Formats: sequence, structure tokens, C-alpha cells
Amino acid sequence: HVTFCVWPLFLSPTLSSVVALGANIICNKIPGLAPRQRAICQSRPDAIIVIGEGAQMGINECQYQFRFGRWNCSALGEKTVFGQELRVGSREAAFTYAITAAGVAHAVTAACSQGNLSNCGCDREKQGYYNQAEGWKWGGCSADVRYGIDFSRRFVDAREIKKNARRLMNLHNNEAGRKVLEERMKLECKCHGVSGSCTTKTCWTTLPKFREVGHLLKEKYNVAVQVEVVRASRLRQPTFLRIKQLRSYQKPMETDLVYIEKSPNYCEEDAATGSVGTQGRLCNRTSPGADGCDTMCCGRGYNTHQYTKVWQCNCKFHWCCFVKCNTCSERTEVFTCK
Ligand SMILES: *[C@@H]1O[C@H](CO)[C@@H](O)[C@H](O)[C@H]1NC(C)=O
Ligand SMILES: *[C@@H]1O[C@H](CO)[C@@H](O)[C@H](O)[C@H]1NC(C)=O
Ligand SMILES: *[C@@H]1O[C@H](CO)[C@@H](O)[C@H](O)[C@H]1NC(C)=O
Repeated sequence: HVTFCVWPLFLSPTLSSVVALGANIICNKIPGLAPRQRAICQSRPDAIIVIGEGAQMGINECQYQFRFGRWNCSALGEKTVFGQELRVGSREAAFTYAITAAGVAHAVTAACSQGNLSNCGCDREKQGYYNQAEGWKWGGCSADVRYGIDFSRRFVDAREIKKNARRLMNLHNNEAGRKVLEERMKLECKCHGVSGSCTTKTCWTTLPKFREVGHLLKEKYNVAVQVEVVRASRLRQPTFLRIKQLRSYQKPMETDLVYIEKSPNYCEEDAATGSVGTQGRLCNRTSPGADGCDTMCCGRGYNTHQYTKVWQCNCKFHWCCFVKCNTCSERTEVFTCK
């Protein structure tokens, strides 16, 4: 049985060895791909590596952003390229979709800029042209974020094969993640001319740090919008989403994260919601926040583990040439949820 752990194996070999291994074998072994994703994988084995890196970057960022929460980005259930999927259409699920869609777009765009992918490169519309209004010229390599976003749209969105409310929710959140990435693209410029005089200036666009995207999406998570599905067509299929509020007919904004179901409290392990629970999680006895033991452990109490921390201290440099240190130690405790 192949699990998520095999995925990083695909990241280490060079492209040629991946191609030599055969796209077929690899694409069939990656767990949880939808048919259309498998087809993209087979036609673009070079891109699949970058997609995997992008999805992993999204998962890592999710774990970083939620490191102090009861939900720490883990879930029970099937492991896929995109991590473990949450069964409940909660705001946590919304975050994971947005961050992985943005991660794939970011990774593909970065790989294009570095010439690592066939079919893409620097943004050709931002090369050599003069920006009359602002008096500078497009130069260098502008990141082709539209290519990355388009690729993410084709690949990530292809996993939504069921025609249900959750599909609309997932697609909206994927798009929100990509939109946040696109809005944070930066313009960098360089001056040319004798001794730094800016007689000519060239500029190019660059990707934001992924951490910045993670922070912004975390803020969007905090104010995520509950929506409900509107079944408009004759077949009464889910057609679009609107904000769930009395007498509201508003659609959510493009960059809103949206959810259709309330979150579980993530206190206990629960296969029905995919919650792994907080038993064994580290907590902070004095913190009033989400990482405080009362909140983290849901009132179950915590275990105290005492240990002695030992380190080198008061190091002095002696002429010549050695360093002499003392050994310091301190009793410390950590707390884990019961
Ligand atoms: C591009 O390829 C080089 C060499 O294989 C690698 O070191 C680099 O991380 C790649 N860049 C991206 C953005 O994938
Ligand atoms: C998240 O919490 C679970 C349950 O306590 C734990 O097993 C897992 O290692 C944690 N994951 C991370 C990334 O901290
Ligand atoms: C625990 O929380 C307190 C208050 O927020 C903070 O000052 C302290 O550094 C935290 N301790 C650890 C080990 O993170």
C-alpha cells in the first residue's frame, strides 16, 4: 500500500531519472489523484514534481499558522497529495484548500522563472516594454504568476468531481487562495546610470514570500464567511453560493474564505469529523490563548513532564586558541494534554 510518505521520494531524484522511471508508474502510484489529474501528471511529469512541492509548501504553512490551535492541520483519513482532507466543510477545510491552491500556483510560477519547467518562463508581456506613464522599462525576469495560477486552476480544481455544495465551496476557496497570491505580487526595480543616478530604471514582478500568503489567509480564516448553496437550475443542482444570513442575497467576495458547516471543537478523536483530538498535544500552562492548557486540553487536564535542560554557557575565548565553557542546567517542565 502506498501512502503519502512516498511523495517526497519523487522530489529528490533529478528530472531525468523521474522520466526514466516512467510517468505512468509514478502517476499511478500517487494516491488520491482524480482522473484528470492523473492525465495531467502523465503529460507533464516535470510539472508533477513542482506541484507536489507546492502542495507540501501549503501543508507546511498550514501547520505553521495553526501550530498553537486545537486543530493543527492534521486530520484523520485518506492521505493525498494535498494532505489529509477534512470531511466537514468547515472553515479549517476552507483554509487548507486556499493554501494548497496558492502553494501550487506559487511553486509553479517560481519554477517557471528559474527555467525548470518546459512550456513556461518569465512573463513575456513584461519584457522590454516601456512603461510610459511611470518612466521605467520592464526588464529582468518577471514572474509569470498568471501561468502558475492557471496551472493551479487546471490541476488543483480537477479534484472536484462531485456536483455538490462542497464542490462549490472548495472551488471558491481555491480561487480565493490564488487571488490572495496574485494581489501580493511585488514590483522590484533597479536604477542604472553613472554612480547610481537613476537615468534609466528597469522593473520586474516577483512572487511574495509564501509566509506572507499564509498570514493573509490566516486572517481571512478568522473572518471566514458562512455560505449556503443556491440551487438555481431546472435540475436543482448547486449553482452558486450566497452568504448565509437572514434576508441576505449577497454573494461572498472573491477573496473571502467560505464554509458551509460549523467546525467541530477538535477536542476528541472523531472519525466522523476527521478530528484527531488534542490528546498528547503540548500546551502552555500560563498562556491565556489557544495554546493554554485549559483551552487546548478542553478541560481534561494535562500531564507535567519534568526534565533538566543542559547547555554550554559563559563561554570565554582564551588566547590562543581555545574556548572554555561552563555547563549550565535548569529544571524545566512541559505540559501535554490528557
Ligand atoms: C529549479 O531547479 C534547481 C536544480 O534542479 C533547483 O535547485 C531549484 O530549487 C529549482 N527551483 C524551483 C523553484 O523549483
Ligand atoms: C498535531 O496534533 C496531533 C494530535 O495531537 C499530533 O499527533 C501531530 O503530530 C500534530 N502535528 C503537528 C504538525 O504538530
Ligand atoms: C507561555 O505563555 C506565556 C504567556 O503568553 C509566555 O510568556 C511564555 O513564553 C509561554 N511559554 C512557552 C514555553 O512558550
